[in-house]
Amino acid sequence: MLPLAPWPYPRWIAHRGAGKLAPENTLAAFRLGAQYGYRMFECDAKLSADGVPFLLHDATLDRTTTGHGTGGDLPWSQLAQLDAGGWHSRSYAGEPLPTLEHLARYCIANTFLLNIEIKPTPGLEEKTGRVVAEHAARLWQGQAVPPLLSSFRPEALAGARATAPQLPRALLLDTLWNGWHGVARELGCVAIVCNHALWDAALVAQMHADGLRALSYTVNDEWAAQRLIDLGTDGTITDRVDLFSPAA
Ligand code: G3P
Ligand code: MG
Repeated sequence: MLPLAPWPYPRWIAHRGAGKLAPENTLAAFRLGAQYGYRMFECDAKLSADGVPFLLHDATLDRTTTGHGTGGDLPWSQLAQLDAGGWHSRSYAGEPLPTLEHLARYCIANTFLLNIEIKPTPGLEEKTGRVVAEHAARLWQGQAVPPLLSSFRPEALAGARATAPQLPRALLLDTLWNGWHGVARELGCVAIVCNHALWDAALVAQMHADGLRALSYTVNDEWAAQRLIDLGTDGTITDRVDLFSPAA
């Protein structure tokens, strides 16, 4: 039985800035999430071809920008020219892709907290973990609360641990695949971030007994949020910044 370390993060975390209400992973989305009272955000980070960590969920640019093909194939100078807002709605047309550094500046200036999901271009898992963690360590140096680094890919978390072991890590799970608990332990994780349907009382108790926090994604229904609160989980990532009040 390991003691649970103090947890500096709030329960409510706004997914990709403000869920679906603004273009995901743009600064406009984080500003909107903040207007709804959110003080912690989740974002997806990957590398440009020249190694700049920037925010994009998909491996490809097509769904959420005016670009085409694999985002990680372009240098930052070209990614910076794309429109990452117009796909969402006219009012966001012209919104650029942010680098991780842009979002770090915004969060630090406003004392907002961040969960950086390391979302590597396939094949670049370890390198993406290393570079994102290196940038995060530099950007948040001297801040009271570091960003929480998470990933579905253990190789990315191993890379993060190699360059910035002091930054907290969390393993993301969409299924309870064979060996996940040992991998989380081996990677020195402080939390598990599960598809919310996977949590039950036994699993939450098992995580807490092992010194791990229990977080959930992506929780958009009141009944699901209440179930997770009743189970004693520690954090909830939501798209519905308009439904859930983070002050509650
Ligand atoms: O970090 C939690 C959640 O964002 C994981 O899934 O696909 O929305 O990035 P996804
Ligand atoms: Mg994500």
